[in-house]
Amino acid sequence: MSFKKVLIIFALIMFIFGFVFTSCQKKTTAVGIVLPTKDEPRWIQDQTRFLDALKSAGFSAKVLFSQGDSAKEKANVEALIAEGIKVLIICPQDGTAAAAAAELAHKAGVKVISYDRLIRDTDAVDYYVTFDSFQVGAAWGEYLVSQVPAGSKGNNLYLYAGAASDNNSFILFEGAWSVLQPKIADGTFIVRNSDKAVALKNKPNLTRDEMSQIIGQVTTNWNFNDAKSKAEANLTAVDAKAKGTVYICAPNDGTARAIADAFAADKDVKKYYITGQDAEIASIQYIIDGKQSMTVLKDVRLLVKDAIDAAIAYLKGSQPPVTKTYNNGVKDVPAKPTPITIVTKENVKKEIIDSGYWPADKFTGL
Ligand code: BGC
Repeated sequence: MSFKKVLIIFALIMFIFGFVFTSCQKKTTAVGIVLPTKDEPRWIQDQTRFLDALKSAGFSAKVLFSQGDSAKEKANVEALIAEGIKVLIICPQDGTAAAAAAELAHKAGVKVISYDRLIRDTDAVDYYVTFDSFQVGAAWGEYLVSQVPAGSKGNNLYLYAGAASDNNSFILFEGAWSVLQPKIADGTFIVRNSDKAVALKNKPNLTRDEMSQIIGQVTTNWNFNDAKSKAEANLTAVDAKAKGTVYICAPNDGTARAIADAFAADKDVKKYYITGQDAEIASIQYIIDGKQSMTVLKDVRLLVKDAIDAAIAYLKGSQPPVTKTYNNGVKDVPAKPTPITIVTKENVKKEIIDSGYWPADKFTGL
């Protein structure tokens, strides 16, 4: 056999060996990331920012979506455990239902980082990466109070909240209540769409159960259609004197746009002020157009960085930084909340465009 032939046979054997070896190797992922749904721009933002940041994170990772379904969320976690993850970064669809998935991960020796929303009623959460949601709610309250003519009484206030299955809905509401409650108690505002809030107006600190009662009446379920129907039903239930100029505490951008559209369509509503959060592209356009009054920019790039840094700390066997704890019903979960930025028409260019958060070509009328 010629030397050339030997060489070709050798190369062929090496090729087959290499092929068999790689296909037999078990696929491994170091960090699993589970996000709640692709149906809301907020979580697409998180996915995009994660994929960007993961390019230089130095570990293998995978992002999966639960599509609003806790069973799918658990199946995602199981699949990631089977791929050998060491750290799970998970934003629960339902804070309590996700406890089972977190416990599975913990049993498999995986560190569990609750991302943006806190997993409740389990000690299988190691760390919580979050924005300061209390501050977000307080910012809504402060914005609405700042728009009221000084010393005026009886201003119409409409309260809305997120899904009761999301722990954030409570923290956000608590923050808003901390600022609005004294102004409801002294008559500056009259709450027009929650008799439970009216009944509790003299209580600065509400129990979780009391908050549940109000949230139960004003929830949007974080759903745009539910938000629109609730706003329409609220407007149908009141007379013209509860309209005119209105102040609306809306829990995020998607629901704010839906609620704003419903109020704008009511001929007895002359002017409305409405809050939001997430700096979604569509809401930034609404702010530029004067259809949404404010949003809270929660710079997802920072949250993603916090999550990746925490994952790296765990992969190296160390601990992420802690400045605060959040009680999840069973445990005080260590956290380092990330600050927020308030965006109105006045500073939208500086905070959103000049900061590089969204490019100018996504908007008109800047
Ligand atoms: C998040 C918000 C988001 C909402 C609805 C909350 O837990 O903090 O940013 O808009 O869920 O998805």
